[in-house]
Amino acid sequence: MSYDVAAVRACFPALRAGAAHFDGPGGSQVPESVAAAVAATLTSPIANRGRTTQAERTADDVVLAARQAVADLVAGDPGGVVFGRSTTQLTYDLSRVLSAGWGPGDEVVVTRLDHDANVRPWVQAARARGATVRWAEFDPATGELAPEVVGALLCDRTRLVAVTGASNLIGTRPDVAAISALAHDAGALAYVDGVHLTAHAAVDVRALGADLYACSPYKFLGPHLGCVVADPGLLATLHPDKLLPSTDAVPERFELGTLPYELLAGTTAAVDFLAGLGGPEGDRRARLVAGMAAIEEHEDRLRERIEDGVRALPGVTLWSRAARRTPTLLLTVDGRDAADAYRFLAERGVNAPAGSFYALEASRHLGLGDTGGLRVGLAPYNDDGDVDRLLAGLGEWLSI
Ligand SMILES: Cc1ncc(COP(=O)(O)O)c(C=O)c1O
Repeated sequence: MSYDVAAVRACFPALRAGAAHFDGPGGSQVPESVAAAVAATLTSPIANRGRTTQAERTADDVVLAARQAVADLVAGDPGGVVFGRSTTQLTYDLSRVLSAGWGPGDEVVVTRLDHDANVRPWVQAARARGATVRWAEFDPATGELAPEVVGALLCDRTRLVAVTGASNLIGTRPDVAAISALAHDAGALAYVDGVHLTAHAAVDVRALGADLYACSPYKFLGPHLGCVVADPGLLATLHPDKLLPSTDAVPERFELGTLPYELLAGTTAAVDFLAGLGGPEGDRRARLVAGMAAIEEHEDRLRERIEDGVRALPGVTLWSRAARRTPTLLLTVDGRDAADAYRFLAERGVNAPAGSFYALEASRHLGLGDTGGLRVGLAPYNDDGDVDRLLAGLGEWLSI
């Protein structure tokens, strides 16, 4: 199926403002259908969840539909989809409850590649319990995180391995299935940060071996919230602090207070939008797999154009090098400040921010300190015109 980027772009009101958005890894633009679903939910008669009044049923149906949509997106179980304010918040909440039984001698593995949202909650939980933290290093020359490196850190006291599905800084997609299998062999859980990956590839949480999989709809064309997908059987064994009158059912016991119904409706609309890119054939999961494959092909073509263009520019280093990676490029320029390029491009309507993007350990491990570099990230709505503007802008900046 050919990818009609002009038709895709026409669905995004924000693009009419004229900027070329390479800031998708920070948060994507939103299609009209997502905004309409949010607005319709806010303005429809709605109450707290229940099955007695129509208003209660509306709220309940919105939640159930969103759980099903996220489950379809990542091939998970709708009964194990937990919603929260953000992935950071959910990972903190889950780190507290998952670490409740840890003590001295227990171990947790984190990686140097991960966003801090999948590092610090585990480091701090381990510290609170007297458990040991093991660090899995990626190779700064290749950007690869080898499963053997993680495997070498495991022992029969490893309780959990926290690993990213894809780096939001340099795009590396580690072999999560292999890492999860090693974690399971050691008797540990695999907690996978899928925030960056979910926007760029068809995800199957079972194939990845993820016991818990976190993602954030605002990275895949949806509204600002987070979710974690897990086996409901695993969630049933966990007992977070909660209010006495609130239900102890799974997954609700992890969702403190009232859910943002309008954002959940927007999440369903975002998943439907992605499925719509996969054509009319099959159920939503099948259309999602096809839609994500179409996005991947489109984004990879543009990524290659950017890489070729950037390599022709003097003094530019490309840090995104792993064999399997998302279309997220980190660049630095000898003797020049990436933040300067960010400002220069912004004045020309090209949005490509500079920084380390909370992937602090990764940035330091690459030798880029806390400053990082210029991040150029692709999204389903980017086109060749955007790439032309980016390359022209970078060329101009380098010539001054
Ligand atoms: C890879 C990755 N993990 C986690 C997060 C944190 O997500 P949230 O903003 O939903 O807490 C981000 C946000 O940029 C991210 O890119």
